[in-house]
Amino acid sequence: MNIILIGFMGSGKTSTGRILAKQLGYKFLDTDQIIEQKNGMTCAKIFAQRGEEFFRKQETTALKELHGLDGAVIATGGGIVLSADNRSLLHNLGAIVYLKTEPAEILKRVENDTTRPLLPQGNKLAEIQKMLDVRQPLYLAAAQCIIATQTGQPEKAAAEICKILKPEQSCRT
Ligand code: S3P
Repeated sequence: MNIILIGFMGSGKTSTGRILAKQLGYKFLDTDQIIEQKNGMTCAKIFAQRGEEFFRKQETTALKELHGLDGAVIATGGGIVLSADNRSLLHNLGAIVYLKTEPAEILKRVENDTTRPLLPQGNKLAEIQKMLDVRQPLYLAAAQCIIATQTGQPEKAAAEICKILKPEQSCRT
């Protein structure tokens, strides 16, 4: 099986995913990283030079290329669920886990980050809330399980995922 982590920027997908993969003896993959390697530039540069629509299509291609994979934890970009194609590809790829963090905590974690192209300017909290209003229903509809990552403890989140999904390999805690 594969475990796919979805959620907003700063919700802990990469840090939780790395720990979880290690515990399960699974591979760790990150769709942002796959896209960056393929395009030879950072996500921020891809957004600046090619735009969001191009980036979403790159996500679709990356997910198609992961078809047939087994035994991986896959972290995804925060906006991957915006595309219906991506949602259906994710569904066929494995068990989907939504890492849920509240907007004020997200803001704390990402406000000084210069690598995320879609981070709001201006009233940042209101902008994050606006993006979440669109994305949260999609995260919730896509996910088989929801893990609160509000406290920022990726080890705890990884342990909870193991407990709920009970993958065939036992979790080393
Ligand atoms: C995005 C989130 C980023 C990355 C890209 C777009 C988004 O990933 O995919 O910058 O639309 O929220 P993280 O969620 O890992 O920051």
